[in-house]
Amino acid sequence: MNMLIEKAKEIIASSEKVTVLTGAGISAESGVPTFRGKDGLWHNYRATDLATPEAFERDPSLVWEFYNWRRSLLSSVTPNNAHEALARFEKTRVVFTLITQNIDGLHGRAGSKNVLEIHGNIWKMRCTSCGTVIIDYRGDVGSLPRCDACGALMRPDVVWFGESLNAEVLTEAFNASRECSSMIVVGTSAVVQPAAFFPYEAKHSQAFLIEINPEATPLSGDADISLRGTATECVPLIFEQ
Ligand code: OAD
Repeated sequence: MNMLIEKAKEIIASSEKVTVLTGAGISAESGVPTFRGKDGLWHNYRATDLATPEAFERDPSLVWEFYNWRRSLLSSVTPNNAHEALARFEKTRVVFTLITQNIDGLHGRAGSKNVLEIHGNIWKMRCTSCGTVIIDYRGDVGSLPRCDACGALMRPDVVWFGESLNAEVLTEAFNASRECSSMIVVGTSAVVQPAAFFPYEAKHSQAFLIEINPEATPLSGDADISLRGTATECVPLIFEQ
Protein backbone atom coordinates (compact mmCIF):
# COMPACT_ATOMS: atom_id res chain seq x y z
CA MET A 1 0.00 0.00 0.00
CA ASN A 2 2.84 2.42 0.86
CA MET A 3 4.38 1.97 -2.58
CA LEU A 4 1.03 2.61 -4.24
CA ILE A 5 0.55 5.75 -2.15
CA GLU A 6 4.00 7.01 -3.17
CA LYS A 7 3.31 6.24 -6.83
CA ALA A 8 -0.09 7.99 -6.70
CA LYS A 9 1.48 11.00 -5.02
CA GLU A 10 4.17 11.20 -7.73
CA ILE A 11 1.61 10.98 -10.52
CA ILE A 12 -0.49 13.75 -9.00
CA ALA A 13 2.51 15.96 -8.36
CA SER A 14 3.60 15.67 -11.99
CA SER A 15 0.12 16.12 -13.51
CA GLU A 16 -0.52 19.45 -15.14
CA LYS A 17 -4.31 19.09 -15.00
CA VAL A 18 -5.92 17.23 -12.15
CA THR A 19 -9.59 16.26 -11.91
CA VAL A 20 -11.16 14.62 -8.87
CA LEU A 21 -14.52 12.86 -8.81
CA THR A 22 -16.09 12.28 -5.39
CA GLY A 23 -19.09 10.37 -4.12
CA ALA A 24 -20.79 9.75 -0.80
CA GLY A 25 -17.77 7.82 0.54
CA ILE A 26 -15.72 10.98 0.97
CA SER A 27 -18.28 12.31 3.46
CA ALA A 28 -18.84 8.97 5.22
CA GLU A 29 -16.18 9.69 7.84
CA SER A 30 -17.86 13.04 8.55
CA GLY A 31 -20.92 11.03 9.56
CA VAL A 32 -22.97 11.42 6.37
CA PRO A 33 -24.71 8.16 5.38
CA THR A 34 -23.86 6.71 1.95
CA PHE A 35 -26.58 5.38 -0.39
CA ARG A 36 -25.80 1.76 -1.19
CA GLY A 37 -23.97 0.30 1.81
CA LYS A 38 -25.74 -1.79 4.45
CA ASP A 39 -26.60 1.37 6.38
CA GLY A 40 -27.11 3.31 3.15
CA LEU A 41 -30.09 5.57 2.56
CA TRP A 42 -31.42 3.51 -0.34
CA HIS A 43 -31.25 0.42 1.84
CA ASN A 44 -33.81 1.87 4.22
CA TYR A 45 -35.84 4.15 1.96
CA ARG A 46 -37.23 3.75 -1.54
CA ALA A 47 -35.75 6.36 -3.82
CA THR A 48 -38.87 6.22 -5.99
CA ASP A 49 -41.01 7.38 -3.02
CA LEU A 50 -38.74 10.28 -2.11
CA ALA A 51 -36.35 11.39 -4.81
CA THR A 52 -38.24 11.57 -8.10
CA PRO A 53 -40.32 14.32 -9.75
CA GLU A 54 -43.34 11.95 -9.56
CA ALA A 55 -42.90 11.57 -5.79
CA PHE A 56 -42.82 15.36 -5.39
CA GLU A 57 -45.93 15.76 -7.51
CA ARG A 58 -47.73 13.08 -5.50
CA ASP A 59 -46.72 14.21 -2.03
CA PRO A 60 -44.49 17.30 -1.79
CA SER A 61 -44.76 17.38 2.03
CA LEU A 62 -43.34 13.86 2.31
CA VAL A 63 -40.46 14.72 -0.02
CA TRP A 64 -39.72 17.94 1.89
CA GLU A 65 -39.85 16.00 5.19
CA PHE A 66 -37.22 13.62 3.81
CA TYR A 67 -34.97 16.51 2.68
CA ASN A 68 -35.52 18.45 5.91
CA TRP A 69 -34.49 15.35 7.83
CA ARG A 70 -31.34 15.03 5.70
CA ARG A 71 -30.67 18.76 6.15
CA SER A 72 -30.91 18.34 9.91
CA LEU A 73 -28.47 15.40 9.81
CA LEU A 74 -26.06 17.49 7.77
CA SER A 75 -26.32 20.63 9.88
CA SER A 76 -24.13 19.08 12.59
CA VAL A 77 -21.43 17.51 10.40
CA THR A 78 -18.15 19.12 9.40
CA PRO A 79 -15.72 18.55 6.53
CA ASN A 80 -13.07 15.89 7.22
CA ASN A 81 -9.37 15.91 6.39
CA ALA A 82 -10.03 14.46 2.91
CA HIS A 83 -12.27 17.44 1.98
CA GLU A 84 -9.66 19.74 3.52
CA ALA A 85 -6.71 18.18 1.69
CA LEU A 86 -8.49 18.68 -1.65
CA ALA A 87 -9.21 22.32 -0.81
CA ARG A 88 -5.53 22.89 0.08
CA PHE A 89 -4.36 21.13 -3.07
CA GLU A 90 -6.55 23.32 -5.28
CA LYS A 91 -4.61 26.38 -4.13
CA THR A 92 -1.39 24.88 -5.49
CA ARG A 93 -2.77 24.29 -9.00
CA VAL A 94 -3.68 26.36 -12.01
CA VAL A 95 -5.94 23.66 -13.46
CA PHE A 96 -7.89 21.67 -10.91
CA THR A 97 -11.51 20.56 -11.11
CA LEU A 98 -13.49 18.84 -8.41
CA ILE A 99 -16.60 17.04 -9.64
CA THR A 100 -18.85 15.84 -6.85
CA GLN A 101 -22.02 13.80 -6.80
CA ASN A 102 -22.58 14.90 -3.21
CA ILE A 103 -25.25 17.42 -2.33
CA ASP A 104 -23.95 17.99 1.21
CA GLY A 105 -21.91 21.12 0.41
CA LEU A 106 -18.94 19.85 2.45
CA HIS A 107 -16.36 20.53 -0.29
CA GLY A 108 -17.37 24.19 -0.36
CA ARG A 109 -17.31 24.38 3.41
CA ALA A 110 -13.77 22.94 3.41
CA GLY A 111 -12.72 25.81 1.12
CA SER A 112 -12.83 24.23 -2.36
CA LYS A 113 -13.68 26.80 -5.02
CA ASN A 114 -13.90 25.09 -8.39
CA VAL A 115 -16.55 22.50 -7.48
CA LEU A 116 -19.02 21.07 -9.97
CA GLU A 117 -21.94 19.83 -7.87
CA ILE A 118 -23.49 17.73 -10.58
CA HIS A 119 -26.41 16.53 -8.41
CA GLY A 120 -27.11 19.95 -6.91
CA ASN A 121 -26.90 21.13 -3.32
CA ILE A 122 -29.25 20.35 -0.47
CA TRP A 123 -28.82 23.86 0.97
CA LYS A 124 -30.35 25.43 -2.12
CA MET A 125 -33.99 25.43 -3.15
CA ARG A 126 -35.59 26.33 -6.46
CA CYS A 127 -39.03 27.58 -7.45
CA THR A 128 -41.00 24.99 -9.43
CA SER A 129 -42.57 27.78 -11.49
CA CYS A 130 -40.29 30.80 -12.01
CA GLY A 131 -36.98 29.03 -11.30
CA THR A 132 -35.83 31.49 -8.60
CA VAL A 133 -33.01 29.85 -6.63
CA ILE A 134 -32.44 30.51 -2.95
CA ILE A 135 -28.82 29.83 -2.08
CA ASP A 136 -27.58 28.48 1.23
CA TYR A 137 -30.95 28.53 2.92
CA ARG A 138 -30.30 26.93 6.28
CA GLY A 139 -33.40 28.01 8.16
CA ASP A 140 -36.49 25.92 8.83
CA VAL A 141 -38.16 25.62 5.43
CA GLY A 142 -41.27 23.85 6.74
CA SER A 143 -42.94 21.13 4.75
CA LEU A 144 -44.28 23.25 1.87
CA PRO A 145 -42.03 26.27 1.30
CA ARG A 146 -43.31 28.84 -1.22
CA CYS A 147 -41.48 31.20 -3.55
CA ASP A 148 -41.22 34.82 -2.35
CA ALA A 149 -41.30 36.02 -5.95
CA CYS A 150 -44.31 34.16 -7.37
CA GLY A 151 -45.88 32.09 -4.57
CA ALA A 152 -45.37 28.71 -6.26
CA LEU A 153 -43.97 25.70 -4.45
CA MET A 154 -40.21 25.55 -3.86
CA ARG A 155 -38.31 22.27 -4.28
CA PRO A 156 -34.85 21.14 -3.18
CA ASP A 157 -32.33 22.23 -5.84
CA VAL A 158 -31.06 18.70 -6.34
CA VAL A 159 -31.21 16.24 -9.21
CA TRP A 160 -33.78 13.51 -8.75
CA PHE A 161 -33.90 10.09 -10.41
CA GLY A 162 -35.23 10.49 -13.93
CA GLU A 163 -34.13 14.13 -14.20
CA SER A 164 -31.41 15.57 -16.43
CA LEU A 165 -28.33 17.19 -15.02
CA ASN A 166 -27.72 20.88 -15.59
CA ALA A 167 -26.37 20.98 -19.17
CA GLU A 168 -23.66 23.57 -18.49
CA VAL A 169 -22.34 21.78 -15.42
CA LEU A 170 -22.39 18.49 -17.30
CA THR A 171 -20.39 19.95 -20.19
CA GLU A 172 -17.81 21.35 -17.79
CA ALA A 173 -17.54 17.98 -16.04
CA PHE A 174 -17.05 16.15 -19.35
CA ASN A 175 -14.42 18.67 -20.44
CA ALA A 176 -12.57 18.37 -17.14
CA SER A 177 -12.63 14.57 -17.52
CA ARG A 178 -11.45 14.65 -21.11
CA GLU A 179 -8.69 17.20 -20.55
CA CYS A 180 -7.07 16.07 -17.30
CA SER A 181 -3.73 14.30 -17.02
CA SER A 182 -4.85 12.39 -13.95
CA MET A 183 -8.25 11.64 -12.45
CA ILE A 184 -8.70 10.58 -8.85
CA VAL A 185 -12.02 8.92 -8.00
CA VAL A 186 -12.89 8.92 -4.31
CA GLY A 187 -15.70 7.10 -2.51
CA THR A 188 -18.19 6.35 -5.24
CA SER A 189 -19.79 3.02 -6.12
CA ALA A 190 -19.40 4.16 -9.75
CA VAL A 191 -22.80 2.87 -10.82
CA VAL A 192 -24.82 6.06 -11.33
CA GLN A 193 -24.64 7.67 -14.76
CA PRO A 194 -23.43 9.97 -16.10
CA ALA A 195 -20.85 10.33 -13.28
CA ALA A 196 -19.76 6.70 -13.64
CA PHE A 197 -18.74 7.48 -17.20
CA PHE A 198 -16.35 10.38 -16.38
CA PRO A 199 -13.42 8.11 -15.37
CA TYR A 200 -13.76 6.24 -18.68
CA GLU A 201 -13.78 9.52 -20.55
CA ALA A 202 -10.55 10.45 -18.72
CA LYS A 203 -8.94 7.08 -19.35
CA HIS A 204 -9.91 7.19 -23.01
CA SER A 205 -8.03 10.50 -23.20
CA GLN A 206 -4.89 8.85 -21.72
CA ALA A 207 -5.31 10.19 -18.19
CA PHE A 208 -3.89 8.21 -15.27
CA LEU A 209 -6.73 6.81 -13.18
CA ILE A 210 -6.51 6.45 -9.39
CA GLU A 211 -9.35 5.04 -7.31
CA ILE A 212 -9.73 5.36 -3.54
CA ASN A 213 -12.34 3.09 -2.03
CA PRO A 214 -12.26 0.47 0.75
CA GLU A 215 -14.38 -1.79 -1.52
CA ALA A 216 -13.94 -2.89 -5.12
CA THR A 217 -16.22 -1.18 -7.66
CA PRO A 218 -16.98 -1.78 -11.35
CA LEU A 219 -14.23 0.78 -12.04
CA SER A 220 -11.49 -0.94 -10.04
CA GLY A 221 -10.30 -3.19 -12.85
CA ASP A 222 -9.75 -0.18 -15.12
CA ALA A 223 -7.96 1.98 -12.55
CA ASP A 224 -4.18 2.30 -12.91
CA ILE A 225 -3.94 2.40 -9.12
CA SER A 226 -6.61 1.18 -6.72
CA LEU A 227 -6.07 2.29 -3.14
CA ARG A 228 -8.14 0.06 -0.84
CA GLY A 229 -8.44 2.49 2.03
CA THR A 230 -10.77 5.17 3.27
CA ALA A 231 -10.87 8.76 2.06
CA THR A 232 -9.38 10.23 5.23
CA GLU A 233 -6.58 7.63 5.21
CA CYS A 234 -5.57 8.08 1.56
CA VAL A 235 -6.56 11.52 0.25
CA PRO A 236 -4.36 13.62 2.58
CA LEU A 237 -1.37 11.35 1.87
CA ILE A 238 -1.52 11.50 -1.91
CA PHE A 239 -2.49 15.17 -2.21
CA GLU A 240 0.09 16.53 0.23
CA GLN A 241 2.51 18.59 -1.85
P1 OAD B 1 -22.85 5.05 -2.92
O1 OAD B 1 -23.51 4.92 -1.60
O2 OAD B 1 -23.45 4.34 -4.08
O3 OAD B 1 -21.34 4.56 -2.80
C1 OAD B 1 -20.50 5.00 -1.77
C2 OAD B 1 -19.12 4.41 -2.00
O4 OAD B 1 -18.26 4.93 -0.99
C3 OAD B 1 -19.06 2.88 -1.90
O5 OAD B 1 -18.35 2.37 -3.03
C4 OAD B 1 -18.29 2.63 -0.61
O6 OAD B 1 -17.45 1.47 -0.68
C5 OAD B 1 -17.44 3.89 -0.51
N1 OAD B 1 -17.04 4.27 0.85
C6 OAD B 1 -17.68 4.03 2.01
N2 OAD B 1 -17.01 4.57 3.05
C7 OAD B 1 -15.90 5.16 2.50
C8 OAD B 1 -14.82 5.91 3.05
N3 OAD B 1 -14.71 6.14 4.35
N4 OAD B 1 -13.88 6.38 2.20
C9 OAD B 1 -13.96 6.14 0.87
N5 OAD B 1 -14.96 5.45 0.31
C10 OAD B 1 -15.92 4.97 1.10
O7 OAD B 1 -22.69 6.62 -3.20
P2 OAD B 1 -22.40 7.37 -4.59
O8 OAD B 1 -21.50 6.56 -5.46
O9 OAD B 1 -21.97 8.75 -4.24
O10 OAD B 1 -27.60 10.46 -6.46
O11 OAD B 1 -23.84 7.40 -5.21
C11 OAD B 1 -24.03 8.07 -6.43
C12 OAD B 1 -25.39 8.72 -6.45
O12 OAD B 1 -26.40 7.76 -6.13
C13 OAD B 1 -25.60 9.80 -5.39
O13 OAD B 1 -25.07 11.04 -5.77
C14 OAD B 1 -27.08 9.86 -5.27
C15 OAD B 1 -27.36 8.38 -5.23
O14 OAD B 1 -28.63 7.99 -5.60
C16 OAD B 1 -28.66 11.28 -6.40
O15 OAD B 1 -29.23 11.54 -5.37
C17 OAD B 1 -29.04 11.85 -7.72
